[in-house]
Amino acid sequence: MRRELSLAEIFQLGYYWETKILLTAVRVDVFSALGDKELTLSEIAEQIGADSRALELLLNALAAMKVLTKEGLRFANTDTARAHLVKSQPNYIGHLLLLHDAEWNNWGKLEETIKTGRSPVSRHVFETNPELGANVLSVLDRIGQQSGPGLAKRLALEGAKTLLDLGGGAGTNAIAFCAVYPQMRAVVFDLPQTLRVAERAIKEAGLEERISVQPGNFNEDPLGGPYDAILMSDILHYQGPDANEALVRKTFAHLTAGGRLIIKDRFLEESRTGPAWVTAFAVHILVNTERGRCYTAAEAAGWMERAGFASVVELERTAVVQGTKGA
Ligand SMILES: C[S@@+](CC[C@H](N)C(=O)[O-])C[C@H]1O[C@@H](n2cnc3c(N)ncnc32)[C@H](O)[C@@H]1O
Repeated sequence: MRRELSLAEIFQLGYYWETKILLTAVRVDVFSALGDKELTLSEIAEQIGADSRALELLLNALAAMKVLTKEGLRFANTDTARAHLVKSQPNYIGHLLLLHDAEWNNWGKLEETIKTGRSPVSRHVFETNPELGANVLSVLDRIGQQSGPGLAKRLALEGAKTLLDLGGGAGTNAIAFCAVYPQMRAVVFDLPQTLRVAERAIKEAGLEERISVQPGNFNEDPLGGPYDAILMSDILHYQGPDANEALVRKTFAHLTAGGRLIIKDRFLEESRTGPAWVTAFAVHILVNTERGRCYTAAEAAGWMERAGFASVVELERTAVVQGTKGA
């Protein structure tokens, strides 16, 4: 049974101060200014063009939060901050935090959204800020590279010669799937602005011969094919249920007989009160997309069944739903 929160924990939940301190430090780029050096307050203030009195308070808090160290009058990055928050580092994840910061004002309108049901935005970040979207995809790509091959193997796609990675982003999954299955060729379909990240990643993986990119809006444009497998990974929560049902129906027409549609997403449990991270993510999606939300696996299964898929199964709890087109 889940225990209740204590009063102290409820108070703690109400503090977003540390969140905004971290996000602001990434924005003014304290971490890159420090790099692998130990600097005084005035040296950092000069580098980033900040007010010393205000910056000192920020740096002290960051030291207390254990993202910086402070020895005497000198500040330095911790090992983790140096590896992941310094822009020049290959494992920089700051873009994701910059996205959270860019969405700060939308969160500020949560009360209005709860009262009116209307989101403060009409389009999602990949449409409104392709550059930030592309940077975020690069971070997601690095994270996804660890899980992609495992997902590919668990799906047992030995018989699939063609894969469509719909809203494929950086092509992380298409690349992982083609690496696992030597017989497979893939198409990464995404908005034209984001496809340049995929093109770079495909080239780096040396898979240009087997993976092509197709620019377009998956709700409006033809998808090509037919394909033996279509993957929708983390795209449906950006859209409302009607658009998703129509898209699932559309993919059915682009699959070969016996072909499979695989939906990987952040699904809610049937109670809709878990997984805990997804319930909060659903609120994030509420204020940062026009009609998006998190769905249950049963809702996704319903779209597939109504589209005509012969067999529909939840392959991985709250994560993967698969529909197979009849022969
Ligand atoms: C969160 S990313 C997921 C990327 C990738 N599938 C993955 O799992 O890593 C969502 C992707 O959907 C793409 N997308 C959103 N709406 C789209 C649309 N209408 N047509 C094509 N792509 C779209 C975005 O550009 C972005 O690359």
